[in-house]
Amino acid sequence: MGNSLLLFILVLIPALASSDFLLTHVRNIKKRNADNDLVVNGIEIYSVKIDSKVTSRFAHNVITSRAVNRGNASKEVFFDVELPKTAFITNFSMTIDGVTYPGTIKEKEAAKKQYTKAVSRGQTAGLVKASGRKTEKFTVSVNIKAASKVTFELTYEELLKRQFGKYEMFIKVKPKQLVKDFEIEVDIFEPQGITELEAEGTFITNELLNTIKKTFSGKKGHISFKPTLDQQRTCANCSQSVLDGDFTVRYDVKRTTPDNLQIVNGYFVHFFAPSNLPKLSKNIIFVLDTSGSMSGREIEQTKEALLKILDDIKEDDFFNFILFDSDISTWKETLIKATPENLDEARKFVRQISAQGMTNLHGGLMRGIDILNAAHEQNLVPKRSASIIIMLTDGQPNVGVSNTHDIEKAVKEAIDGRYTLYNLGFGSGVDYGFLERMALENKGLARRIYPDSDSALQLQGFYDEVSNPMLIDVELNYPENEISDLTTNSFKHFYDGSEIVVAGRFVDSNQNHLSVDVRGEGANDTLSYTTQQDAEQTAQAFQEQQYIFGEYIERLWAYLTIEQLLEKRLTATGEEKENLTAQALALSLLYKFVTPLTSMVVTKPEENGNEEGIADKPTEGAGMFTGPLTASPLYHTYASPPTWYTSVDGDPHFIISVPQKKDAICFNINENPGMILNLINDPVTGITVNGELIGDKRANSDAKVQNSYFGRLGIANKQLDVKLTVTPERITIQNGDEKTGFTWLDSVTLQQAGLTLIINRKKNLVLSMGSGASFVVVLHQVWKKHPLHQDFLGLYTLKSDKLSDQTHGLLGQFFRPIDFTILEVHPGSDPKKPDATMIVKNNELIVTRGWQKDYRGDPKHGVDVPCWFVHDNGAGLIDGVHTDYIVSSLF
Ligand SMILES: *[C@@H]1O[C@H](CO)[C@@H](O)[C@H](O)[C@H]1NC(C)=O
Ligand SMILES: *[C@@H]1O[C@H](CO)[C@@H](O)[C@H](O)[C@H]1NC(C)=O
Ligand SMILES: *[C@@H]1O[C@H](CO)[C@@H](O)[C@H](O)[C@H]1NC(C)=O
Ligand SMILES: *[C@@H]1O[C@H](CO)[C@@H](O)[C@H](O)[C@H]1NC(C)=O
Ligand SMILES: *[C@@H]1O[C@H](CO)[C@@H](O)[C@H](O)[C@H]1NC(C)=O
Repeated sequence: MGNSLLLFILVLIPALASSDFLLTHVRNIKKRNADNDLVVNGIEIYSVKIDSKVTSRFAHNVITSRAVNRGNASKEVFFDVELPKTAFITNFSMTIDGVTYPGTIKEKEAAKKQYTKAVSRGQTAGLVKASGRKTEKFTVSVNIKAASKVTFELTYEELLKRQFGKYEMFIKVKPKQLVKDFEIEVDIFEPQGITELEAEGTFITNELLNTIKKTFSGKKGHISFKPTLDQQRTCANCSQSVLDGDFTVRYDVKRTTPDNLQIVNGYFVHFFAPSNLPKLSKNIIFVLDTSGSMSGREIEQTKEALLKILDDIKEDDFFNFILFDSDISTWKETLIKATPENLDEARKFVRQISAQGMTNLHGGLMRGIDILNAAHEQNLVPKRSASIIIMLTDGQPNVGVSNTHDIEKAVKEAIDGRYTLYNLGFGSGVDYGFLERMALENKGLARRIYPDSDSALQLQGFYDEVSNPMLIDVELNYPENEISDLTTNSFKHFYDGSEIVVAGRFVDSNQNHLSVDVRGEGANDTLSYTTQQDAEQTAQAFQEQQYIFGEYIERLWAYLTIEQLLEKRLTATGEEKENLTAQALALSLLYKFVTPLTSMVVTKPEENGNEEGIADKPTEGAGMFTGPLTASPLYHTYASPPTWYTSVDGDPHFIISVPQKKDAICFNINENPGMILNLINDPVTGITVNGELIGDKRANSDAKVQNSYFGRLGIANKQLDVKLTVTPERITIQNGDEKTGFTWLDSVTLQQAGLTLIINRKKNLVLSMGSGASFVVVLHQVWKKHPLHQDFLGLYTLKSDKLSDQTHGLLGQFFRPIDFTILEVHPGSDPKKPDATMIVKNNELIVTRGWQKDYRGDPKHGVDVPCWFVHDNGAGLIDGVHTDYIVSSLF
């Protein structure tokens, strides 16, 4: 299940996309000009191609979009695609004026730091990830110059699953403007032969009907859709595009035998889908949440769905209803046969269900299990039958046993592998992770039911998927010594219209023969046989295949393996979970899949340096509910990181760069003029740096905190017996008893034992000492007649690794690597500066995103350095409190 295969929506819009309203108004009246028509807000999208190749259910899709900036200024162009949740992105690139910027797939942790950083900057341009019911959205934007061209190319892959007797590919199309050259091409190759092929689009009007070309014969199927410009128009003279909706391809394959085995280059895949088996009867327990939160539309939609489901229950089936709120109630004491009379009575029962009270989920499930146990013990139900529990809830357990771990444990023990549990989570209040784990631990699966006008249909659709079991306890056994890395090969159920897929790797990659024992319990008897295949037969079946893409069976195996490892990981803990994660990660990186463990990092050109964005695959965990309308900023861009350094400058602003995070932390110290602060103190090398604060020319009577700057720096090296005093006027070196003085008007390079001093006239001085520790002191000169400000100094450390581990001081303590974590970025009091929670040195601090200036290169204007600002004199970040760093003299 989980089947519906795929979709992608495609949008390419210029920034500030003109609203449809405006388009309708302006464009409909004015005389059409072929060129103007294609350019929206300066951008022409001259080509969109969606190329899909399916080989034995494995789909490889490439979306290519080309645009040109027809305007006379730079414009941001967005590439916006919706792809199926079940798909993994495998490649992405942007080509701007002939230069390609490729995406690379990296481990998530490494990329997450970058993501945090981007969010913290509050940037919204770039890659944004949003999640809908069946789709995930991929958005990237890039700024292109006037007359420049950009090509976006995105590749993704997925295994099409069979459901209700068909493989379905669901393509959402939405180019948002007319596209000169728009086309969808789908090529399908199925070695078993294609028996039916359909293509339809929700936006296809009668005029467009003939534009979908569809052919299939034998093993090949082809679909193409190439609407001309005029066919894309909503009306003869309109510039709006009709291309907005879902394009769906469905097909099925011929089945002369239940099994199809394919062997290529040391890998095999086995498709198993028997037909014409008698249906097993079912014993269904509906466990329904009727707590207060379900009242209103949710309970009404649940009842509507149950009434429809009752119409579909077969006479051989048994069923019952358990309702849980604060209490547990049941419709009948035992499972009841679905006779017409009983179904009538059930309808009356369903109609009177109402919702109130708390949520005793544990009680409801346990009662359901008890009733199934009793039915089996008393031989009330046929031996050969499928027992399933379908639970629906919209909340979290809060009465009875309410600890979800305890519930999971108890339910698993009570079910003990005998029944299948399906959990349906209604709305956003559920702990979906818990529902999913519990279902997976009991051979079932979880589904979200999205609160919407079609919720009843969603419930009913789910029931249809699981309502026709043909076999239970299906096992596909391959010779153990010949096969390694086998995907899951035992299944609780085989449902009518679905398909079981198993893939694996031969121990000996030259092996070209395989036999498999198939076993399953059917309605009347046990199904059991052996089937075989050799590589030659596969090769023959593939002879006509011209467009085979790479090693499709190997990639299919990798896809399925990663999918199953990720699923097992949901219920695993401790070392097992670590092992599963490590395996899934290794395969994701090896086969280049963007999975929940990896990210696509795209480096893109920007005017002020490189920017990067990250593509993540969101997971469906608790608290990650993203309804169709919610967008979560998982992709972002950010400027390239500053090189490593620490500094203090201005009113004293401290900047601590954190290279492994490619980010920085900053804080201010507010102290009175005249105070001397210890900045660096290394007891081992004997190097100290202290700074004396000066204020403005006169105190500002309105301000609580007076501005203060460093007006005097004292740099000492005890071992060399050297003291350097720097003020905005003079630089003095005291070497033992010997004093040498310079002014900032001098240009000097001074070299003596263990010390190099370079004065860059009126700008800065660079000092290297002893072991190689070096500093830059920047001179800030203000206008001489400035009413308030006076000249001051800034200090930047260049090489601090030459200092010892014991180095301390307001700057010195940060010469050792420091790490931090940013959580919960949220809007702050200044809309341009988001707040966040920072975990650093085991403290939890509220920090604010901001900028500080780095004046090393440009002493006049400086360069903005984005950083996390720690409030309150660096409290929680610096060791102790800032007053601990006040010293009595400069040396
Ligand atoms: C489209 O525009 C042309 C030129 O202005 C006009 O002659 C024609 O009648 C218009 N057609 C429709 C259907 O509005
Ligand atoms: C750019 O285009 C705008 C709008 O057409 C026009 O007003 C402006 O003068 C143009 N600028 C240049 C430099 O051509
Ligand atoms: C990704 O796409 C780019 C651009 O088309 C291509 O050059 C590159 O080979 C692709 N990478 C892989 C791994 O397919
Ligand atoms: C299964 O058993 C039922 C009842 O014994 C019988 O009517 C039916 O024909 C059997 N079906 C098959 C496919 O053997
Ligand atoms: C995890 O992997 C290691 C190394 O392969 C193995 O020794 C260990 O038994 C595994 N642990 C679990 C719980 O699977």
